[in-house]
Amino acid sequence: MTDQKSLDSILQERRVFPPGPEFTVRARIKPADRERLVAEARAGHEAFWGRIARETLGWHKPFTITLDQASAPNYRWFTDGEINASWNCLDANLRERGDKTAIIFESEPGETRRLSYRELTAEVCRLANALKASGIAAGDRIVIYMPMVPEAIIAMLACARIGAVHSVVFGGFSTRSLRDRIEDAGARLVITADGGHRAGRLVELKATADEALAGACPSVEKVIVLRHTGCAVDMKPGRDVWWSDAVAGQAASCAPVFVPSEHPLFLLYTSGSTGRPKGIQHATAGFLLGAKLTTLWAFDLREDDVFWCTADIGWVTGHTYVAYGPLAAGATVVIYEGAPVHPDPGRFWSICERHGVTIFYTAPTAIRALMKYGEAIPAKYDLSKIRLLGSVGEPINPEAWIWYQRNIGKERCPVVDTWWQTETGATLIAPLPGAVAAKPGSCTLPLPGIDAAVVDDDGNEINDPNRGGHLVIRKPWPFMLRTIWGDNERYLATYWARFGNRYYLAGDTAHRDRDGYFWVMGRADDVLKVSGHRLGTAEVESAFVAHPRVAEAAVVGRPHDIKGEAICAYVVMKGERPTGAAAEAMAHELREWVGREIGAIAKPDDIRFADNLPKTRSGKIMRRLLRAVARGEEITQDVSTLENPAILDQLRGQA
Ligand code: WTA
Repeated sequence: MTDQKSLDSILQERRVFPPGPEFTVRARIKPADRERLVAEARAGHEAFWGRIARETLGWHKPFTITLDQASAPNYRWFTDGEINASWNCLDANLRERGDKTAIIFESEPGETRRLSYRELTAEVCRLANALKASGIAAGDRIVIYMPMVPEAIIAMLACARIGAVHSVVFGGFSTRSLRDRIEDAGARLVITADGGHRAGRLVELKATADEALAGACPSVEKVIVLRHTGCAVDMKPGRDVWWSDAVAGQAASCAPVFVPSEHPLFLLYTSGSTGRPKGIQHATAGFLLGAKLTTLWAFDLREDDVFWCTADIGWVTGHTYVAYGPLAAGATVVIYEGAPVHPDPGRFWSICERHGVTIFYTAPTAIRALMKYGEAIPAKYDLSKIRLLGSVGEPINPEAWIWYQRNIGKERCPVVDTWWQTETGATLIAPLPGAVAAKPGSCTLPLPGIDAAVVDDDGNEINDPNRGGHLVIRKPWPFMLRTIWGDNERYLATYWARFGNRYYLAGDTAHRDRDGYFWVMGRADDVLKVSGHRLGTAEVESAFVAHPRVAEAAVVGRPHDIKGEAICAYVVMKGERPTGAAAEAMAHELREWVGREIGAIAKPDDIRFADNLPKTRSGKIMRRLLRAVARGEEITQDVSTLENPAILDQLRGQA
């Protein structure tokens, strides 16, 4: 599963970056603190999390039950407590930080706006009151399909305020993805915008939402539309209402609805190994605890920090480290609407300079893309305020890590490589910046209270650096997913069945080195990480076969210098296999088709046409073979079970 090149590179990596003494002196968690926390968690896992939860969050009703294992592996935490997530992000900050800037917003065209905690609270309350006026109550699902604007966060917090369950759909997804998610969640209301700005282009969100809703999604009663770009949209009478009209006349205060700890805070759809995305369900208290705690721990957050996580709120990173984590911790967060290279590749650094960013958190794919433009670009900007860098979403290659540390961190900032997943809620493995030495390419060690391990197929722990295995978490943790919305069977089968309900299976392969450091190599299933975005090969395949002329398709990933992974599709058309110019035209048409069906992020990089796909005699597509072909590798696998061996030459011939 792990390719030899990346394995060699980690086994040979000898560079170690201990925390600088000037950093450690002021760090929230110093080496001795870490040791104490690790020991405390080892001595009593449940008691440890109970103490942390009491001290970290504001509870309306304190809990007495820390961990309820009665329906394991559907674990429940802090069950008899009551809490409100928006209260923790807003009201809890008002007394000491009411006038502190909560959000610094910059749109792609360059508009900037600031919202204090007090202003943010008022906006959230107005929208919460508008939702209530529309008949929305605790437990109702609301889909948020927005650009990266403050209102996206306002919408999330307004849902949380009244106990409604939000499901944010990434604004880069198109019709089919949006429709499937709305229908699966059974959303009563959709919050969207007229459009958004991306790389100088207009993204017509409302038009896509209209298409998604047309003749479908019967649960949706109302659509609230933010005017953002000013582009023309159709408003459907009786269903659609402008945001400004919805909040007009609404009070700027709204009593939070305190919900039981386990009340779902949100659903977030993510890709798995089937065509149907999974609605990952997170619980209010546990999720909020993970978001706030790990923001404080992994990013060493201080009162005067300006925190910029570049993720879109459509992904989990945007939930945990744009919205809930930093706001619950009372930070100032930067949000930027547009593309990193618009209008030029200095945009990120210009934002850091102008807004005084002190903590910068992004994905390896962005680092690699910006690296390509050379170090002269960041050198033009004053990045002296930055004191910590973070990385997330995919393995970071040591070369990109070093470039980041040198050119952005000026060799004085810790680089925190955070490993986690939509399902884990927050970072589980990352160097505590004041306490753990970093190694480029490794997410280092689990946070205190997280029992991660690498195990073989039988569940035995592996400590030999040369041997890879499954990354698992052996004890439940408060911010873990609770279930898959509407499909607990799939929850059990995907994450627990592999090791008899004992270990949470992450779906990644990993190695541990001599120091016990974790090196996550990538996915072990049919999930791809394309530019840090999580995509299932099966989803892309079903988009292909929805095209009237496609008979069959198989999708695999291959390594890509910037995007991490590229998407390669092998397609069998109904009728004759296209060649030459016809093949080119068809490939173009199919790329656009997949883009319209799923979203631009799913457009395949390579499309190859074949008369057939390599299958076993029982009809199973041999994906390992296709992966080898896509990578241009020698075929070393046994092909004797292949039903149609000649097909391999045809596939390879087109490389
Ligand atoms: C990958 C993103 C290596 C991994 C927060 C995981 C990483 C998947 C890292 C989850 C990292 C995330 N090093 N790999 N620091 N962080 N991954 O759900 O394969 O979008 O399983 O969550 O991203 O992706 P998701």
